[in-house]
Amino acid sequence: MSELKIPKHIAIIMDGNGRWADKRFLPKKAGHRKGADVLENILRCSNKFGVKYLSAYAFSTENWNRPQDEVNDLMDLLDNYLDRYIEKCDENGLKIKCIGDISKLSDALQKKILKLEALTEKKNGLNFIIALNYGARDEIFRAVKKILNMVLDKKILPNEITKSIFESCLDTKNIPDPDLLIRTGGEMRISNFLLWQCAYTEFYFCDKFWPDFNENDLEDAIKNFSMRQRRFGSR
Ligand code: IPE
Ligand code: IPE
Ligand code: MG
Repeated sequence: MSELKIPKHIAIIMDGNGRWADKRFLPKKAGHRKGADVLENILRCSNKFGVKYLSAYAFSTENWNRPQDEVNDLMDLLDNYLDRYIEKCDENGLKIKCIGDISKLSDALQKKILKLEALTEKKNGLNFIIALNYGARDEIFRAVKKILNMVLDKKILPNEITKSIFESCLDTKNIPDPDLLIRTGGEMRISNFLLWQCAYTEFYFCDKFWPDFNENDLEDAIKNFSMRQRRFGSR
């Protein structure tokens, strides 16, 4: 992989779990479970390729509108997933951070998230960013409210607000913008993921359903990224 340009930050919209399960006449939960295993493998491969940040869209602010049974299944899976990562945190070296409004999750889940973040805070492996109850519009809206409160509390004057102060109010504070965004499942849309941060991100769409996504697919995405010429509007 040495000749390849490795994206520092890859963001992934892991889509297609439901259709993967439907195709096999399995319950949707089986698709989500397989999807969670695939994410673990992709984290390992990303680390091997030298990626420094990987953001995974796990649950959107709009996903609450799914049938209650499916939401419950997703929350159960998340709970197991967090336990697994708490258990393995010394082994895999991941530094984990959640983005999104976790205050809407159960108290038990919130505690586990904070525990996992604290346990991995000093790790120096891959930065793993999990988007939970994440919606970019919600994130931007919350950032605007934080700034307004800073103004009201007289911590800052309106004319002192800069782009970097605004960015420090986003959930992705201190995380570089994604270089590459991968969406599986064949849809070509962003579905409210990282709208601010993806201003100059390269997009890669893959028809495979997320539970079928593997190391070769990740390598294909990185190869494709390597051939792109990024210009950032400057030439
Ligand atoms: C993505 O898979 C996972 C989540 C949104 C949690 P989907 O459940 O959206 O799968 P499809 O798009 O219905 O196939
Ligand atoms: C995006 O997938 C959200 C996650 C992968 C968590 P969705 O399946 O929810 O998006 P839409 O509904 O197809 O836009
Ligand atoms: Mg979907």
